[in-house]
Amino acid sequence: MSLVKIEAHDVRNIESAALEPSPRLNFIIGPNASGKTSLLEAVYLLGRARSFRTPQISQAIRFGRSGLMVTGKVTSDTGHTIPIGIRIARDEREIHLSGRKIQSSAELIRTFPVLVIQPSSGALLEGAPKHRRQFLDWGVFHFEESYLDCWRRYAKALSQRNILLRERRLRDIELWNRELARYGTIIHGARERYTERLMPYFFQAAAQFFAGVRLDLHVQSGWNRNKTLEAALQEDVASDIRLGHTQSGPHKADFSIVLDGRSAKAYLSRGQMKLLVYALLLAQSLLMEESAGMSACVLVDDVASELDENNKNRLLGFLKERRTQFFITATTEEMIKEAINDAAVFHVEHGQVKQA
Ligand SMILES: Nc1ncnc2c1ncn2[C@@H]1O[C@H](COP(=O)(O)OP(=O)(O)O)[C@@H](O)[C@H]1O
Ligand SMILES: [Mg+2]
Repeated sequence: MSLVKIEAHDVRNIESAALEPSPRLNFIIGPNASGKTSLLEAVYLLGRARSFRTPQISQAIRFGRSGLMVTGKVTSDTGHTIPIGIRIARDEREIHLSGRKIQSSAELIRTFPVLVIQPSSGALLEGAPKHRRQFLDWGVFHFEESYLDCWRRYAKALSQRNILLRERRLRDIELWNRELARYGTIIHGARERYTERLMPYFFQAAAQFFAGVRLDLHVQSGWNRNKTLEAALQEDVASDIRLGHTQSGPHKADFSIVLDGRSAKAYLSRGQMKLLVYALLLAQSLLMEESAGMSACVLVDDVASELDENNKNRLLGFLKERRTQFFITATTEEMIKEAINDAAVFHVEHGQVKQA
């Protein structure tokens, strides 16, 4: 999948921009505060129907305007072209796909998978487990058709069980234990399968930056694996009542990375953690690139800001070899000279975008 055309209106400081990106590398060059991140935001909005900067999507609307609009065309790996679009006003969101208005963003996310690597992506390893669950879930979503439905049923059962616990209405708790165990076990199984698939790509991407180390990725299910989830839920009832919420289940899952037998989180430098985050997110895109008809579009914001010269060049060398579409921002062409041949280059200044 690649974005072959995009038009953005009133996205942050971009009043209006129209681009015909390359299906491979695209560089977005401009000084600080010129609108580079705003342009990436437009691409992200088109694929995710939300912002990667703020939970409040209306903050992406240009100051003084009542709404924003982004439209584009994506070409599937089989050569199909699909028009997509999103319009956001203060309190409404409209998504268009192939000329139809759609309600849920799921279909859009499947049609145009977008991933972002940005300075705050460090949270994937250094932040709360929620970030790691979201990482796994986005990946699984693209591989298992029924995952979203399962996940919704699980979330509903979880909230029902939590209500019963708080109100101490234990008569129906068995019913919800069973429901949670059923979907929770499926969710964990799907996350494990996904991790198995991802692992070789993670090793391949990480090998760019960590030569000769042994890497491991461990998924924790979110409950005591000596028991079934149903048994764990049954045994937890008394302490769950005290806590007022459900302690066991895939909503508590996590994963950790181990380097030469030591926990990455405990021992690596911040810079090394950043490289592992790059490796994880690039692994997701590599796996999709290798899976028929599924390649993603990857946004890399401020590529050079946190990597030293060697690692930056290794990264750019690695990206050049991929078949994935990338949008990469930098403040000067100097920073990316290693990779700039046969890439599309866009210059941004005061919210104006020009193709070089
Ligand atoms: N909703 C908005 N409307 C107008 N301008 C905005 C909005 N949100 C942010 N800006 C401004 O847009 C400019 C470009 O921001 P950004 O795209 O993040 O720049 P950069 O090129 O450094 O990535 C900044 O001056 C920022 O303050
Ligand atoms: Mg920026």
